[in-house]
Amino acid sequence: MKNKDRLLKYLREKRGNWVSGQTISNKLSVSRSAIWKQIKKLREEGYVIESSPKKGYLLSKLSNLLFADEIPDGLDTEIFGKKGIHYFREIDSTNNKAKDLAASGAPEGTIVIAEQQTKGRGRRGRVWFSPPGGGIYISLILRPEMPPNEAPTMTLMTAVAVAEALISLVELEVSIKWPNDILVGGKKVAGILTEISTEMDSIDFIIVGLGMNVNMPLASFPKEINDIVTSILLETGKHFSRIELIRAYLHFHEKYYKIFQKNGYEPIIERWKELSNMFGRNIMVNVLGKEYSGEVIDMDNDGALILKDNQGNLHRVFSGDVTLLRRSGT
Ligand code: BTN
Repeated sequence: MKNKDRLLKYLREKRGNWVSGQTISNKLSVSRSAIWKQIKKLREEGYVIESSPKKGYLLSKLSNLLFADEIPDGLDTEIFGKKGIHYFREIDSTNNKAKDLAASGAPEGTIVIAEQQTKGRGRRGRVWFSPPGGGIYISLILRPEMPPNEAPTMTLMTAVAVAEALISLVELEVSIKWPNDILVGGKKVAGILTEISTEMDSIDFIIVGLGMNVNMPLASFPKEINDIVTSILLETGKHFSRIELIRAYLHFHEKYYKIFQKNGYEPIIERWKELSNMFGRNIMVNVLGKEYSGEVIDMDNDGALILKDNQGNLHRVFSGDVTLLRRSGT
């Protein structure tokens, strides 16, 4: 461990209490001037460390940055986030990086996180707005044993995990809009981009990328999307720890992944249905330029949405852009 990390670990153990320079120096076996140098570095990273010639040092506020070494503390998973955390202050896209890592053999459970993305990607070639400070941008490498055509269920599983994490920590009324939007009050608070690399009949790896708007005020979004997006800050008026949200997300994702490995998709689809706001709703789906409208009747066990059109015909839809139509009488 580097001196800076050892010092931070020690100050965190003593958080809220003053510790003298001499005590730290004895404890870590480094000189007092070396400690001072590392204190300056930690302050540059956003940690608030008070100093007093008489009392020493006091860590009064953890940095608001998403440091990789803070995530494992209190992370109760076995694999997700435990096989390598790659942290970047800035990156083009965490999904791109995760793909490169997976292609060079990174194990399942490896994650990539960033403070900001310069080319954050959404579905269908859209841009995912990824400014620094208030968002979560995370990609997870999975290597599930399943045929490639079943991969869309991984998006549904991720959506369930994200919704559960938000419900457990933020106590918001969250709903899932098929296939990958997490909504609060009808507005999008998080999105999922699933990308896959396959062999002929098996999956090499899947990257699930999650973008979540956490501590983002309205002014931080482009005006054009102000009506359709929201953030946890906007919904609750409170700031939330992105690190805790990441831990909760990884916890639930791994939980459902294990359920899937043991019992298949059914329990995940069942939970998805409970969390979704789509059943009984009239929607329009755009599948590669072709539009289907109808009422959402059910979801099949492979994740396909079942629509009943005006003529009573049933359609199974595997992917597309969904518009929720107004409820009758509203
Ligand atoms: C969508 O709703 O269209 C999906 C958005 C997914 C955004 C995340 S942010 C982390 C990961 N890296 C990317 O470039 N995209 C995903």
